[in-house]
Amino acid sequence: MLDVNELIDVEAGTQSRRIFWDKEIYELELERVFGRCWLFLAHESQIPNPNDYVTTRMAEDDVLVWRQADGSTKAFLNQCLHRGTKLCMAEAGSANALSCIYHGWQYDAAGNLKTVPLENMLYGDSLDKSKLGLREVPRVESYRGFVFGCMDPDAPSLEEFLGDDKWYMDIWSDVPGGVELLGPPGRSIIRTNWKLPTEGFVGDVYHLGMTHGSILKAIARPAADFGPGAGLQSTSRYGHGHAIQFMHQNSLLHSVSPELAEVHQVRKPEDLPEDRTDDQRKLYTSFWDGSFFPNCSYLIGLNVFKVWHPIGPDKIEIVTWALADKRMSDEEKRRLTVAVHRTFGTAGTLEGDDMDNFEFCVRPNKGYFTRQGKLNAQMGKGNARLDPKFPGVVDEMVSELSIRGYYRFYADCLASENWEELQKRSEKWKEQLL
Ligand code: FES
Ligand code: FE
Repeated sequence: MLDVNELIDVEAGTQSRRIFWDKEIYELELERVFGRCWLFLAHESQIPNPNDYVTTRMAEDDVLVWRQADGSTKAFLNQCLHRGTKLCMAEAGSANALSCIYHGWQYDAAGNLKTVPLENMLYGDSLDKSKLGLREVPRVESYRGFVFGCMDPDAPSLEEFLGDDKWYMDIWSDVPGGVELLGPPGRSIIRTNWKLPTEGFVGDVYHLGMTHGSILKAIARPAADFGPGAGLQSTSRYGHGHAIQFMHQNSLLHSVSPELAEVHQVRKPEDLPEDRTDDQRKLYTSFWDGSFFPNCSYLIGLNVFKVWHPIGPDKIEIVTWALADKRMSDEEKRRLTVAVHRTFGTAGTLEGDDMDNFEFCVRPNKGYFTRQGKLNAQMGKGNARLDPKFPGVVDEMVSELSIRGYYRFYADCLASENWEELQKRSEKWKEQLL
């Protein structure tokens, strides 16, 4: 019998091993995590003009994100209302209407069912087309060009959901000229649970020395970089978090990827808007890993942007873009794309290191005796603090604070019937983590 209150112990910093493979938990996640939270859909740069569209997923639901004639963005379940086949098969395109490949029902960009082949002859006037439009995602909002969708009409706004993370997101997204995602994205399927890569990116700097040890050795990275004062980790009310290394991007990029080092010459702290603090300027040229709860992650410096779509409890689809400053030249963007896929693409040097770990955290945790143990993320407990200069709850860069913050909100989601309950449960989030 599943008792969601026993899965996560925020106080102890432990989690049940069932969360990485249990089908019952997964079904609850579809309802209470993916059905309730804001999920990344697309970046506006992917659909710049009216009628442009991209297809994506919200958990296991196929979704069509379509730019409207008035410049707004709508999202629909990508599924024909007749016999249910997938409506749009393309990854991206531009069209003012799409026809289903099965019997030819046609929908316009606003989601209306416009034409039905042989309608008069076969249906007479019995078909009410006004009730057979595409099912719309009830909430679609964007921040700094990043478009998110939410299936729960009662959710807080996207900006409220981003919370303290907005201050940090502004540093890398509100840059001169803005940012964009370069596609087409890389795609791969991995046998792991969707939370594992997200928790890795939300704040696991600890793994670098071992998992990526051979690369660090190759580039002669000094171990002192991971000590006190080397950086910052932070977490926020709705589970987003990141770790930031106070080291100029170029000091590492020359070794990891010469293309990236050249591309980053474009980033100068003095280019940022006047209202930025000195700390925001410093962080602008630092290395970051981070995740938006529940399943979207990024690396600043390596300029990787990823979504981890679940396919059941033990399989994911990874979608990977290069995150570019729009003002980069076409050649710089090409080089950045090569560098991103060489490091964190399907066969990327660093991606391969990580995915082995993520795969081996799933099946082995199913063992009858193994599953009765707990996962441990206690590192840094007691060190977390509030800092007037940095929003959220913060700690040293190498800590498991962000992982605890991620699972704190995850536990609240699973235990709550609706957003009202969820807001009440997460009110004391700071006290729980400090
Ligand atoms: Fe789409 Fe029949 S299933 S038109
Ligand atoms: Fe890694």
